[in-house]
Amino acid sequence: MNTKSLVSIVDFSKDDILRLIGTAECFERNPNRGLLEGKVCATLFFEPSTRTRLSFETAINRLGGRIIGFSDAATTSSSKGETLKDTIMMVSNYADLIIMRHYLEGAARYASEVTDIPIINAGDGANQHPSQTMLDIYSIYKTQGRLDNLQITVVGDLKYGRTVHSLIVGMSHFNPTFHFVAPEELKIPELYKHFCETNGIRYHEHTEFSEEVINLSDILYMTRVQRERFTDLIEYEKVKNVYVLRNNMLSHSKDNLKILHPLPRINEIANDVDNNPKAYYIEQARNGVFARQAIICDALGIEVVSG
Ligand code: CP
Repeated sequence: MNTKSLVSIVDFSKDDILRLIGTAECFERNPNRGLLEGKVCATLFFEPSTRTRLSFETAINRLGGRIIGFSDAATTSSSKGETLKDTIMMVSNYADLIIMRHYLEGAARYASEVTDIPIINAGDGANQHPSQTMLDIYSIYKTQGRLDNLQITVVGDLKYGRTVHSLIVGMSHFNPTFHFVAPEELKIPELYKHFCETNGIRYHEHTEFSEEVINLSDILYMTRVQRERFTDLIEYEKVKNVYVLRNNMLSHSKDNLKILHPLPRINEIANDVDNNPKAYYIEQARNGVFARQAIICDALGIEVVSG
């Protein structure tokens, strides 16, 4: 495997994360630079996306790179039965970097093992979404002025939510206390509880989404129930509206509280929250451009000069 791929947030040390935050800050100050001139980046999206694909493509465009790829695998030869391995090897003939979203857990790891060009995982099934985590951590840093010792409440589909899985690992370097709010059917997987336990990370599990837990939070990370991961849609119907954040639930929340959501939202944040200054999910998505510029340059070994 090449060493510059980003397939899991585990690939980044604490120092890597802090360094990339510094680089993202540089790009936020000045996002338009010619650092990718002469480079071709491929965006291969085997699953739907709005933010991840468009923010990666914005990041590349603003850095002067060129983009090839697809947003609908049905238009590609994978619909004729071409294997992922062959697709990756073909695209490696054309591009310097591959950004890939795939419905299979482990697809990005596999891709990174069959090519020498860097692979950036833009989400693999219910497994990981490491570039989302970098923008989430950047957003937490910007809004809190620190990363250490935060109370982070994660709400919704903790079973299938890949952004949650990556966030737990990414924030584990910073001594968080997690509150996992989920119905029984969508509880955080044992794997991530074990991860917390072996890394000395405090966590509490809740089935009730109460004001009590909101009021002790610095970060409230809402997630949607991941309809596409259910094999039985009757089960989805039972839990799809399990928690809804409404503005009146925030009356006694901390002044520094910020509400994050990887988006898209369905019903889990009511529209009346949008005008609350604690709502940060739209700016959070904007931060994705800068975080992804940092990730791309890191993967390609491009030095970013401050300024
Ligand atoms: N947060 C996120 O992955 O959004 P998209 O599915 O729109 O890319």
